[in-house]
Amino acid sequence: MGKFIAGIVFALVAFVLGAFIYARGGYMPVNADATPSSLERWAANKALDAAIEHQAPQVENPIPKTDANLIEGMKLYAMNCGVCHGGLDRKRNVLGGAFYPPAPQVLVRGLDDPEWHIFFAIKHGVRLTGMPAWGKVMSDDDLWKVTAFLKTINQLPPAVEQQRRQALGSSD
Ligand code: HEC
Repeated sequence: MGKFIAGIVFALVAFVLGAFIYARGGYMPVNADATPSSLERWAANKALDAAIEHQAPQVENPIPKTDANLIEGMKLYAMNCGVCHGGLDRKRNVLGGAFYPPAPQVLVRGLDDPEWHIFFAIKHGVRLTGMPAWGKVMSDDDLWKVTAFLKTINQLPPAVEQQRRQALGSSD
């Protein structure tokens, strides 16, 4: 029994020492121009989803999806989010892929998550990624408007879709 405990203590000390040398010896990769492995992405996404499921209040979006609110949400998106998540042209942008982990191109396909989930991610941000906590700079009403816009991206009402095209300066 004594040997068994000594073995565990030794393994723990070796692990902590190894981690210390790895970090302080400068061996840790800290660059962002790398692609996260599929295992890392899977684990991080599962942990993020589980945390949001557990911590976010599961409420309805209090902002009605009127044309005016969706247009407002679109403008807020274009001003604050498009630089990382892709512009209103709904094409992938290069900067979004330059983050580690990359910024998801949220307008390309749209988001499956419920609105309360998206709202929570936007409001509180995602630690140790490029995703800021927008609750520090935007009101809840504005965050719900952006959320409504993101959730409606694949079925924008005609007036909102027209505004989106106008914002691109083309009619295609
Ligand atoms: C400086 C770059 C940057 C800006 C600006 C930014 N984000 Fe992000 N965002 C990120 C990154 C990077 C991630 C990925 C985090 C991750 O992988 O866990 C992310 C994640 C997200 C997610 C989670 C997507 C998912 O996987 O469910 C949402 C939603 C989101 N951002 C919305 C927004 C909105 C809305 C805005 C504007 C109000 C915004 N972001 C502004 C970089 C940014």
